[in-house]
Amino acid sequence: LKIAVFVSGGGTNLQSLIDATQSGSINGEIVLVVSNRKKAYGLERAKNAGIQAECIKDDQLLIQRLKEEGVELIVLAGYLAILSDELTELYQNRIINIHPSLIPAFCGPGFYGLHVHEHAFKRGVKVAGATVHFVSPVVDGGPIILQEAMDVSQARSPEEMQKMVLTIEHRILPEAVRLFCNGQLKVENERVEIL
Ligand code: GRF
Repeated sequence: LKIAVFVSGGGTNLQSLIDATQSGSINGEIVLVVSNRKKAYGLERAKNAGIQAECIKDDQLLIQRLKEEGVELIVLAGYLAILSDELTELYQNRIINIHPSLIPAFCGPGFYGLHVHEHAFKRGVKVAGATVHFVSPVVDGGPIILQEAMDVSQARSPEEMQKMVLTIEHRILPEAVRLFCNGQLKVENERVEIL
Protein backbone atom coordinates (compact mmCIF):
# COMPACT_ATOMS: atom_id res chain seq x y z
CA LEU A 1 0.00 0.00 0.00
CA LYS A 2 1.27 3.50 -0.88
CA ILE A 3 1.37 5.79 2.17
CA ALA A 4 1.87 9.55 2.53
CA VAL A 5 2.83 11.01 5.92
CA PHE A 6 2.13 14.65 6.84
CA VAL A 7 4.33 16.29 9.49
CA SER A 8 4.82 19.76 10.98
CA GLY A 9 7.46 19.18 13.64
CA GLY A 10 10.28 16.91 14.76
CA GLY A 11 8.78 13.81 13.18
CA THR A 12 9.48 11.15 15.83
CA ASN A 13 6.16 9.51 14.93
CA LEU A 14 7.20 9.63 11.27
CA GLN A 15 10.48 7.99 12.24
CA SER A 16 8.66 5.11 13.94
CA LEU A 17 6.65 4.64 10.71
CA ILE A 18 9.78 4.79 8.52
CA ASP A 19 11.43 2.15 10.72
CA ALA A 20 8.35 -0.09 10.69
CA THR A 21 7.75 0.13 6.92
CA GLN A 22 11.42 -0.23 5.96
CA SER A 23 11.87 -3.21 8.30
CA GLY A 24 9.08 -4.96 6.43
CA SER A 25 6.73 -5.32 9.41
CA ILE A 26 4.10 -3.23 7.58
CA ASN A 27 2.64 -4.23 4.19
CA GLY A 28 3.01 -0.65 2.97
CA GLU A 29 5.55 1.85 1.66
CA ILE A 30 5.88 5.56 2.51
CA VAL A 31 6.11 7.17 -0.94
CA LEU A 32 5.80 10.83 0.12
CA VAL A 33 6.32 12.98 3.21
CA VAL A 34 4.63 16.39 3.21
CA SER A 35 4.94 19.32 5.58
CA ASN A 36 3.28 22.71 5.72
CA ARG A 37 6.51 24.02 7.30
CA LYS A 38 9.74 24.16 5.30
CA LYS A 39 11.88 23.78 8.43
CA ALA A 40 10.10 20.73 9.82
CA TYR A 41 12.80 18.28 10.86
CA GLY A 42 10.48 15.50 9.74
CA LEU A 43 11.37 16.45 6.13
CA GLU A 44 15.03 15.81 6.95
CA ARG A 45 14.16 12.41 8.42
CA ALA A 46 12.36 11.50 5.20
CA LYS A 47 15.28 12.60 3.00
CA ASN A 48 17.71 10.63 5.20
CA ALA A 49 15.51 7.57 4.60
CA GLY A 50 15.46 8.15 0.82
CA ILE A 51 11.80 9.20 0.80
CA GLN A 52 10.42 12.11 -1.30
CA ALA A 53 9.91 15.05 1.09
CA GLU A 54 8.08 18.22 0.04
CA CYS A 55 6.85 21.40 1.69
CA ILE A 56 3.36 21.99 0.26
CA LYS A 57 1.03 24.75 1.43
CA ASP A 58 -1.49 24.82 -1.43
CA ASP A 59 -4.33 22.30 -1.07
CA GLN A 60 -4.86 21.77 -4.81
CA LEU A 61 -1.16 21.05 -5.30
CA LEU A 62 -1.28 18.69 -2.32
CA ILE A 63 -4.20 16.74 -3.82
CA GLN A 64 -2.46 16.65 -7.21
CA ARG A 65 0.75 15.23 -5.70
CA LEU A 66 -1.16 12.57 -3.75
CA LYS A 67 -2.88 11.46 -6.96
CA GLU A 68 0.41 11.50 -8.91
CA GLU A 69 2.00 9.21 -6.32
CA GLY A 70 -1.05 6.95 -6.14
CA VAL A 71 -1.31 7.46 -2.38
CA GLU A 72 -3.88 5.12 -0.76
CA LEU A 73 -3.42 6.05 2.91
CA ILE A 74 -2.55 9.38 4.52
CA VAL A 75 -1.05 9.43 8.03
CA LEU A 76 -1.02 12.69 10.02
CA ALA A 77 1.98 12.47 12.37
CA GLY A 78 2.08 15.74 14.26
CA TYR A 79 0.53 17.71 11.39
CA LEU A 80 -0.66 21.12 12.57
CA ALA A 81 -2.88 22.22 9.72
CA ILE A 82 -6.56 21.45 9.23
CA LEU A 83 -7.23 19.43 6.08
CA SER A 84 -9.67 20.77 3.48
CA ASP A 85 -13.11 19.14 3.18
CA GLU A 86 -12.17 18.19 -0.40
CA LEU A 87 -9.19 16.18 0.85
CA THR A 88 -11.02 14.53 3.77
CA GLU A 89 -13.89 13.55 1.44
CA LEU A 90 -11.50 12.22 -1.22
CA TYR A 91 -9.74 10.10 1.42
CA GLN A 92 -12.71 9.20 3.63
CA ASN A 93 -11.63 6.65 6.28
CA ARG A 94 -8.21 6.56 4.61
CA ILE A 95 -6.62 9.30 6.75
CA ILE A 96 -5.21 8.23 10.13
CA ASN A 97 -4.24 10.71 12.88
CA ILE A 98 -2.35 10.29 16.15
CA HIS A 99 -3.49 12.42 19.09
CA PRO A 100 -1.55 12.50 22.38
CA SER A 101 -4.55 12.04 24.72
CA LEU A 102 -7.30 9.53 25.42
CA ILE A 103 -9.99 11.07 23.20
CA PRO A 104 -12.55 12.52 24.04
CA ALA A 105 -10.37 14.02 26.77
CA PHE A 106 -8.16 17.02 25.90
CA CYS A 107 -8.96 17.13 22.20
CA GLY A 108 -10.40 19.49 19.61
CA PRO A 109 -9.19 22.85 18.33
CA GLY A 110 -6.28 24.23 20.36
CA PHE A 111 -5.44 20.84 21.92
CA TYR A 112 -2.31 19.80 20.03
CA GLY A 113 1.29 18.91 20.83
CA LEU A 114 2.52 20.14 24.22
CA HIS A 115 -0.72 22.09 24.91
CA VAL A 116 -2.49 18.75 25.45
CA HIS A 117 -0.04 17.82 28.23
CA GLU A 118 -0.07 21.29 29.78
CA HIS A 119 -3.85 21.01 30.26
CA ALA A 120 -3.64 17.40 31.47
CA PHE A 121 -0.78 18.18 33.90
CA LYS A 122 -2.63 21.18 35.33
CA ARG A 123 -5.75 19.01 35.73
CA GLY A 124 -3.64 16.54 37.70
CA VAL A 125 -4.62 13.43 35.67
CA LYS A 126 -3.17 10.13 36.95
CA VAL A 127 -3.65 8.29 33.67
CA ALA A 128 -2.91 9.61 30.19
CA GLY A 129 -2.29 8.06 26.80
CA ALA A 130 -2.70 8.37 23.05
CA THR A 131 -5.36 7.74 20.44
CA VAL A 132 -5.11 6.75 16.79
CA HIS A 133 -8.27 7.57 14.84
CA PHE A 134 -9.60 8.08 11.34
CA VAL A 135 -9.90 11.73 10.35
CA SER A 136 -13.41 13.13 9.84
CA PRO A 137 -14.67 16.69 9.28
CA VAL A 138 -14.86 17.09 13.09
CA VAL A 139 -11.37 17.83 14.50
CA ASP A 140 -10.25 14.77 16.56
CA GLY A 141 -13.79 13.39 16.18
CA GLY A 142 -13.26 10.49 13.76
CA PRO A 143 -13.72 6.76 14.54
CA ILE A 144 -11.18 5.54 17.12
CA ILE A 145 -8.84 2.77 15.92
CA LEU A 146 -6.49 2.18 18.90
CA GLN A 147 -5.90 3.69 22.33
CA GLU A 148 -3.38 2.92 25.03
CA ALA A 149 -3.23 4.37 28.55
CA MET A 150 -0.42 4.67 31.10
CA ASP A 151 0.15 5.84 34.67
CA VAL A 152 1.51 9.41 34.54
CA SER A 153 1.05 10.20 38.23
CA GLN A 154 4.85 10.51 38.67
CA ALA A 155 5.30 13.05 35.83
CA ARG A 156 6.73 16.29 37.25
CA SER A 157 6.09 18.49 34.21
CA PRO A 158 4.06 18.62 30.99
CA GLU A 159 7.27 17.95 29.02
CA GLU A 160 7.87 14.79 31.03
CA MET A 161 4.26 13.72 30.47
CA GLN A 162 4.67 14.31 26.70
CA LYS A 163 7.81 12.15 26.63
CA MET A 164 5.99 9.34 28.46
CA VAL A 165 2.99 9.45 26.12
CA LEU A 166 5.23 9.57 23.03
CA THR A 167 6.46 6.07 23.87
CA ILE A 168 2.87 4.88 23.43
CA GLU A 169 2.42 6.88 20.21
CA HIS A 170 5.50 5.31 18.64
CA ARG A 171 3.91 1.90 19.24
CA ILE A 172 0.23 2.33 18.41
CA LEU A 173 0.61 4.46 15.25
CA PRO A 174 2.65 1.84 13.36
CA GLU A 175 0.30 -0.86 14.70
CA ALA A 176 -2.77 0.98 13.35
CA VAL A 177 -1.07 1.44 9.96
CA ARG A 178 -0.13 -2.26 9.93
CA LEU A 179 -3.76 -3.24 10.62
CA PHE A 180 -5.00 -0.87 7.90
CA CYS A 181 -2.55 -2.26 5.32
CA ASN A 182 -3.73 -5.78 6.22
CA GLY A 183 -7.34 -4.72 5.57
CA GLN A 184 -8.24 -5.47 9.20
CA LEU A 185 -9.97 -2.13 10.01
CA LYS A 186 -13.72 -2.03 9.39
CA VAL A 187 -15.67 1.19 10.10
CA GLU A 188 -19.37 0.85 10.95
CA ASN A 189 -21.52 3.56 12.57
CA GLU A 190 -18.47 5.63 13.60
CA ARG A 191 -16.95 2.60 15.38
CA VAL A 192 -13.89 0.65 14.22
CA GLU A 193 -13.94 -3.14 14.31
CA ILE A 194 -10.56 -4.89 14.08
CA LEU A 195 -11.05 -8.03 11.97
C1 GRF B 1 3.23 14.51 19.22
O1 GRF B 1 2.94 14.99 20.51
C2 GRF B 1 1.99 13.94 18.62
O2 GRF B 1 1.16 13.26 19.51
C3 GRF B 1 1.27 15.15 18.18
O3 GRF B 1 2.26 16.08 17.77
C4 GRF B 1 3.50 15.68 18.29
C5 GRF B 1 4.31 15.26 17.11
O4 GRF B 1 5.47 14.75 17.55
N1 GRF B 1 0.38 14.78 17.11
P1 GRF B 1 6.52 14.27 16.41
O5 GRF B 1 6.64 15.41 15.42
O6 GRF B 1 5.93 13.04 15.79
O7 GRF B 1 7.76 14.01 17.19
